[in-house]
Amino acid sequence: MGFKVRDHYFEKAKKDNYFARSAYKLEEINKKYKILNKGMNVLDLGYYPGSWTQYTAKVIGQEGLIVGIDIQEVNKKLEVIPNVRVYQKDINDVQDLSDLGVDDKFDAVISDMAPSTTGIKSVDQARSLQLVEMVFYHLPNFLRKNGNFTIKVFDSNDAQQFLREQKKRFKEFHFLKPKSTRSVSKEFFAIGKGFKE
Ligand SMILES: C[S@@+](CC[C@H](N)C(=O)[O-])C[C@H]1O[C@@H](n2cnc3c(N)ncnc32)[C@H](O)[C@@H]1O
Repeated sequence: MGFKVRDHYFEKAKKDNYFARSAYKLEEINKKYKILNKGMNVLDLGYYPGSWTQYTAKVIGQEGLIVGIDIQEVNKKLEVIPNVRVYQKDINDVQDLSDLGVDDKFDAVISDMAPSTTGIKSVDQARSLQLVEMVFYHLPNFLRKNGNFTIKVFDSNDAQQFLREQKKRFKEFHFLKPKSTRSVSKEFFAIGKGFKE
């Protein structure tokens, strides 16, 4: 079952010219919770290879801007899209908006970041949570009041506990495991709307 699903989305991504099948996860999140709109400025954390960037660029249109960072070398194929700026940067080294080349906070922050995995469950869960905590820590610097947010999380008791504490920072807070996520995967997405600062 998992294989068939992967195969379908893999083929669909090729046909739609997406760099990865992950685009359909963001599409599902956005269709359900409307976190991205025309004209928005969006920060895409862990953008590489760039299918979320491609999808977002289409939704926000020419009046919007999407800034992506990733530890990987820049995917130059994205630089041809006029409303996209991508940088090779580690989230741990980004302190403020000037590090991202902008003056104003973003209307939405989206994070699909995932650490490189070791196969040791406890280590992988801890590394993943460290990244998630880092993003939530930085949110007041990057996300404007009433802005929208989504982040990938690998499930663990500690992650659930952490997210319960973060809920109150948004007017609405939801969890979603998109259909295009493989059934064996422990990942899900937390979605916040209406950031309270
Ligand atoms: C699942 S991929 C993202 C896929 C992307 N959303 C897409 O649709 O093409 C996760 C990315 O997180 C990046 N990443 C991991 N740790 C990071 C960090 N500390 N800072 C920035 N990016 C990081 C990885 O390099 C990887 O490219």
